Amino acid sequence: MTAAIVDDAIRSRMSVRAFLPKDVAREDIEAILDVASRAPSGTNCQPWKVYVLQGASRDALVDKTCAAHDAIRANPELAAQYQEEYDYYPAQWVSPYIDRRRKNGWGLYGLLGIGKADKDKMHVQHQRNFRFFDAPVGLMFTVDKVMGRGSLVDYGAFLQNIMVAARGRGLHTCPQAAWNGFSSIILPHIGAGEGEMLVCGMSLGYADPDAPVNTFHTPRVPVADFTRWME
Ligand SMILES: Cc1cc2nc3c(=O)[nH]c(=O)nc-3n(C[C@H](O)[C@H](O)[C@H](O)COP(=O)(O)O)c2cc1C
Repeated sequence: MTAAIVDDAIRSRMSVRAFLPKDVAREDIEAILDVASRAPSGTNCQPWKVYVLQGASRDALVDKTCAAHDAIRANPELAAQYQEEYDYYPAQWVSPYIDRRRKNGWGLYGLLGIGKADKDKMHVQHQRNFRFFDAPVGLMFTVDKVMGRGSLVDYGAFLQNIMVAARGRGLHTCPQAAWNGFSSIILPHIGAGEGEMLVCGMSLGYADPDAPVNTFHTPRVPVADFTRWME
């Protein structure tokens, strides 16, 4: 194993937001989940539960969630019905995170020619999340609510493994917290048990190489900015 191969798999991962209508082999999905499950987890709890949506089950979830998303647009009071089960983002944004978030959001919308006042276009672009960005495979991840917050740390390792293993098979992904507010639609749809909480969703498929949105590459702060060396 060389650093170059591992680094390339990690560096070539990006959030893809336009996929080709090309099926993904079940063997590939299974192999990705199998290798991803080598992720470490505290005391080897392996807290992940995965739901793979394809075909009619995928399409039906897309329809239901897009309808709810449209309904909220028409009547914003409905948003109160759709609550996230855990805080993915902070209640109060502070610098430098708010600055990075804005740069990311406006970078993406700028690339797509969506201005601050283009609420219709913004809604359509946001709704692309609930179409899995046209990916043929949608993944939903849940965790048993009895588990501690540490399980979300374990989950991060598992999710990253999926995204990197996908690269090894020519596939791309987009992790999606956008679904989290719609767990009241998603959990019954996938048949999740009473005690399960939605962690996030993910699109999986082959990237559309011609889609401008997929030319969006995000920067990172240099190592020196987030690391302190102590001797
Ligand atoms: C847990 C998680 C949830 C995310 N949710 C969304 C989402 O709902 N929609 C979306 O377009 N991108 C989502 N992203 C992608 C981030 O915006 C993206 O990772 C970040 O901007 C860095 O870009 P990159 O993934 O291309 O390197 C999510 C990322 C993570 C890790």
